[in-house]
Amino acid sequence: MVTRSTIMDTNSFRAEHATALDAETRQLTDKRSKILGGSYRLFYRNPVHLVRGEGQYLWDEAGNQYLDAYNNVASIGHCHPAVIEAVNQQMKMLNTHTRYLHEGILDYTEKLLTTVPTEIDRAMYMCTGSEANDLAIRVAQSYSGGTGIIVSQEAYHGTSALTSGCSPALGSGQTLADTTRLVPAPDAYRVDTADLGEWFANQIQQQIDDMNAHGIKFAGFLADSIFSSDGVMPNPVGFLQKAVDVVHANGGIFIADEVQPGFARTGDAFWGFARHGVVPDIITTGKPMGNGIPVSGLLAKSDVLSTFSDQIPYFNTFGGNPVSMAAAQAVLNVIQQEQLQAHSQRVGALLQAELTKLMERHECVGDVRGAGLFIGFELVKDRQSKTPDKVLALDLIEELRNTHRVLTSVAGPYGNVLKLRPPLAFQIQDIDWLVNALDQSLLKLKA
Ligand SMILES: Cc1ncc(COP(=O)(O)O)c(C=O)c1O
Repeated sequence: MVTRSTIMDTNSFRAEHATALDAETRQLTDKRSKILGGSYRLFYRNPVHLVRGEGQYLWDEAGNQYLDAYNNVASIGHCHPAVIEAVNQQMKMLNTHTRYLHEGILDYTEKLLTTVPTEIDRAMYMCTGSEANDLAIRVAQSYSGGTGIIVSQEAYHGTSALTSGCSPALGSGQTLADTTRLVPAPDAYRVDTADLGEWFANQIQQQIDDMNAHGIKFAGFLADSIFSSDGVMPNPVGFLQKAVDVVHANGGIFIADEVQPGFARTGDAFWGFARHGVVPDIITTGKPMGNGIPVSGLLAKSDVLSTFSDQIPYFNTFGGNPVSMAAAQAVLNVIQQEQLQAHSQRVGALLQAELTKLMERHECVGDVRGAGLFIGFELVKDRQSKTPDKVLALDLIEELRNTHRVLTSVAGPYGNVLKLRPPLAFQIQDIDWLVNALDQSLLKLKA
C-alpha cells in the first residue's frame, strides 16, 4: 500500500504531550479524549484554549493576546460587528428553511452572482464545504455520465463518503474511491519544467488515460485553485488554463473548490480561479463565506446543473436559511465596502516582501510564495537539495505559539510549509509582529 502523509496529524497534540501540560489544560484534553470521538485532532503539543477574538487577534483563558496568522474562517475578522448585527437581527425575526419564500436567499444570490463569470448563473446553498463538494461531484457525475474524479496528490475536499474518497490528505487510513485519480501538485518550486501549465495539463491527461484504460469514464477535475493543502501553489498566474482545456476536451467538468481561496483572499481577484483566467463549470464555497456561521454554496452553469437538478430534488434543511444568508450578505458587503480585496493584495504583497527578506538571513527558508494574504513559507534542510525540513517547521510553529503568540500551521505532503493565511483584518502594523516572530524563532531554533 502507498503510504501517504496525514497532514491532520502533523501539527497535532498527542497523548505523549499530556504530561507537560498545566493542570487546567490537562483537564480539558483529558475530558475531550474521554467524551469526544477519537478522530478529532487538536493543534499544538500545548493546545491553545481560546476564549475571545476580535479582528486579527485572539485571546486565551489567561488573557494572553495572539496574532492569528492562520484562520480564514473568520475571513473579515473575528467577531466582526457587521456579521453579529446581521445575524442577531435576522435571528430575532425568523430562521427557517428554504421551502418557504424568503428574500434573503434571493438578494444574496443576485449579489453573489455578480462576482462570478456570467456563464455561472445558478446558486445552491449548504452548510459546509464538504456538502458543497459532495453535491458538485454528484452533479459532475450526472452531467458527464462518468464517475472518475481527479484531484491533487495532497488534496482535501471534505468529510462525506464522496469527498473523503477524493481527499488523499486524510492519509493512508482513508481509502480513496476506485474512481479517484491523483495528479502531483503544480509545485513551481520543485517541479523542473519551463511550462508548469503544460506539465500539469499532461499529468491530468495521463490520469484520464489511466481511467480509460480501466474502464472508468472521466467526470471531472476537482481542485482548490491555490492548492492549499498541497502546500500553497499560486503561481505562475494562469497555469490552470491548459489543465481546464484538457478536462473539457475529455468531456469532464472543472470544479473550482473555492473554500480556501475565495472571497477576496488572494487579492488579485475575488476568486482563486479568476487569477488563472479560467471559467469553472462549478464553483464550491465554504468557510470564509459566513465568517464563522456555517454556510456554503455551489454556483454552476445552468446546463451543467440541470442534468442533476431536473432529476433529483435537493433539500438541505439549514442550507441557505435566512440567518446564514444574512451572515453571508454581511460578509460580502464588508468585503466590498472595506475594499478587502485591494487590502489583501496590498498588505499581502508587503508581508510577502518582508518574508522574502528573511531568506537573506535564514538559509532554511527555501521558498516564499503567495497571493494576497495567502502565503506559503517553505522550510528546507538546504536550498540545493530542497530537502523538506518538517522537524524545523513543527518546532517553528510551536515556538511561534509559545514564545511569540503567533498562531499558524503547516501544509504540504512533507508538512514543511507554513500556511500564513490570517483574517483579512490583518493590517500593515501586524507584519512586524509576524516577521520578527519568525526571525527570532528561526535564530533560536537554528542556533
Ligand atoms: C479546500 C477545502 N475544501 C473543502 C473543505 C471542507 O469544508 P468543511 O470543513 O466546511 O466541510 C475544506 C476544509 O478544510 C477545504 O480546505
